Amino acid sequence: MRPGLNNLVEYTKAARFEKAGDKERLGAQSISEAERVNLAVTIGGIRMANPVTTGSGTFGFGPEYAPYVDLKRLGAITVKGTTLEPRLGNPVPRIVETPAGMLNAIGLQNPGVEAFVQDHLPYLREIGTPVIVNIAGNTVEEYAAVAGRLSEVGGVAGLEVNISCPNVKQGGIQFGTDPVMAAEVIGAVRASTQLPVIAKLSPNVTDIVAMAEGVAQAGADALSLINTLLGMAIDVQTRKPVLANIMGGLSGPAIKPVAVRMVWQVAQAVDLPIIGMGGIATPEDALEFILAGATGVAVGTANFVNPRATVEVIEGITTYCVKNGIKDINHLIGWAWKR
Ligand SMILES: Cc1cc2nc3c(=O)[nH]c(=O)nc-3n(C[C@H](O)[C@H](O)[C@H](O)COP(=O)(O)O)c2cc1C
Repeated sequence: MRPGLNNLVEYTKAARFEKAGDKERLGAQSISEAERVNLAVTIGGIRMANPVTTGSGTFGFGPEYAPYVDLKRLGAITVKGTTLEPRLGNPVPRIVETPAGMLNAIGLQNPGVEAFVQDHLPYLREIGTPVIVNIAGNTVEEYAAVAGRLSEVGGVAGLEVNISCPNVKQGGIQFGTDPVMAAEVIGAVRASTQLPVIAKLSPNVTDIVAMAEGVAQAGADALSLINTLLGMAIDVQTRKPVLANIMGGLSGPAIKPVAVRMVWQVAQAVDLPIIGMGGIATPEDALEFILAGATGVAVGTANFVNPRATVEVIEGITTYCVKNGIKDINHLIGWAWKR
């Protein structure tokens, strides 16, 4: 990662100047070759023009990035975690930079499902890019209620279920670290919606394949992996944890090898399409996930450093396909173990 999240200001300034130059940089012949590459993928019934979506919680509701990215170019937009009621999130400080990423303990701050439907969904519907809504809850019933509400409104292409949430009825154990509880959440969401259900797995487990098999049996149409890895940081001056929440989720380049390994294992064991994520900042990072078995990829933390990372990844994947004579991105999925 380029040093310093506060470089965002410099990168966003630079991005405005670069925006106009995309096509010119490709050259006329490459443009026509690029147009012949099929980048379209289908994930649990969601048809995407290309494999690239956004990591939930790192791209707001979309309009925040509209000055830098043509949102129509994305394969899908995955929006921030949405709960039944509004949530203020955790006390600050709730993010801290680490040598190759960041820790966050945002605590699912969001305006609640009703405000999402009224205030944010109309804008997203207009764009025409598939919208994946990330949902969360502290009880199985909350997950089911959010899923049910989002199913009746139109304009939502699929639900990504964040199972890395504390289960209040079970003393705060995360749903996503127990295969039985994870399956219970996915089963309840499945029963409340006709929309595609994507189970987003937590990496904070010993056996990721067992988790994936559990949610697959409970009715998931696709999988997202990985969510953040549990971590913490201590300030040596104050001699206290940096985050008010003490622990937080590690994301960014530091977690990429763990994520690629988990996609590799799950893709070979479970017959569901996977959206791979964890440290993707460049086209090569994204291709690594696809070669490991991911059908889609999400750019997360990289958006904070380079707000144009998503489109740069799409362009770079296209260039790679042109240069390597790949006519259809689907041929690359799982190449590293299939061929
Ligand atoms: C600030 C921040 C907020 C996040 N919020 C959510 C969320 O609301 N729901 C969710 O499922 N994942 C959330 N995530 C996890 C990301 O979507 C992604 O799974 C993870 O960060 C790994 O990808 P990355 O390394 O590219 O960021 C969040 C991550 C960050 C950094």
